[in-house]
Amino acid sequence: MSLEIENLVMRFGGVVAVNDVSLSIQPGKIHGLIGPNGSGKTTIFNVVSGYYKPTSGKVAFDGKVISGLPAHQITALGFARTFQNLRLFKTMTVLDNVLVAMGQHTQTSLWQAILDPISSGREDKLLTEKALNLLGLFGIADFARERATSLPYGHQRRVEMARALATDPKIVLFDEPAAGLNEVETERLSETLLKIRDSGITIFLVEHDMKLIMGICDTVSVLDYGKKIAEGDTTAVSRDPVVVEAYLGKEETL
Ligand SMILES: Nc1ncnc2c1ncn2[C@@H]1O[C@H](COP(=O)(O)OP(=O)(O)OP(=O)(O)O)[C@@H](O)[C@H]1O
Ligand SMILES: [Mg+2]
Repeated sequence: MSLEIENLVMRFGGVVAVNDVSLSIQPGKIHGLIGPNGSGKTTIFNVVSGYYKPTSGKVAFDGKVISGLPAHQITALGFARTFQNLRLFKTMTVLDNVLVAMGQHTQTSLWQAILDPISSGREDKLLTEKALNLLGLFGIADFARERATSLPYGHQRRVEMARALATDPKIVLFDEPAAGLNEVETERLSETLLKIRDSGITIFLVEHDMKLIMGICDTVSVLDYGKKIAEGDTTAVSRDPVVVEAYLGKEETL
């Protein structure tokens, strides 16, 4: 169940957003991807999840090449992701947002509901229970019946994460999940991410919050100007002079 990114290049006109990057994401681990703004992190997510076809290089999942496949086929293999910008259904409740995400992956059809209302009713109840459990995992079950967009931004990000997990993924890609969270909320998010990993789901994590990254990642890869400049465990990466330079050069600190 490993994810292998090999010599990936993604160009947009004259911009080389990702420049010959290879990454190996181990199953059951949290793999962090960090780097200054514009270094290519989200672009890698977009390629891996099938939103962009790479200029060259390949992505393989469990030994099967997935780069070039449409996003829905990649999702079906067990990928889920969140977006740096929120993509919730604005008029729906928090609960319905999660149920809709599940719905794309359950087999209950309208016909089943008509022909066998009792067992489909039971299934609905189970799905609702599962959705509430997921919201509980993120500490937002109390908001289940509220309109998603009436929640504070940090809560909405957590709804997005619950939606991603609702599809029962093997691997989940989170793009800056701590954006907009305060320190206490980020601490709780760390615990939640560890629980998700310990349940066997692989996490590929883009995040600017270094405390979060250094606290929970098993491996960290560092990008700068589309190139991988360092990789290793959190201790090695945070001490790597090349990494410190990349951040200090942009007036950010580790
Ligand atoms: N669809 C696109 N068309 C043109 N250029 C793009 C596109 N997507 C990304 N880029 C460019 O590719 C580079 C990498 O962008 P990317 O969004 O991957 O960075 P990032 O590391 O996620 O940055 P941030 O931390 O700010 O989210 C940037 O120069 C960006 O402007
Ligand atoms: Mg980004």
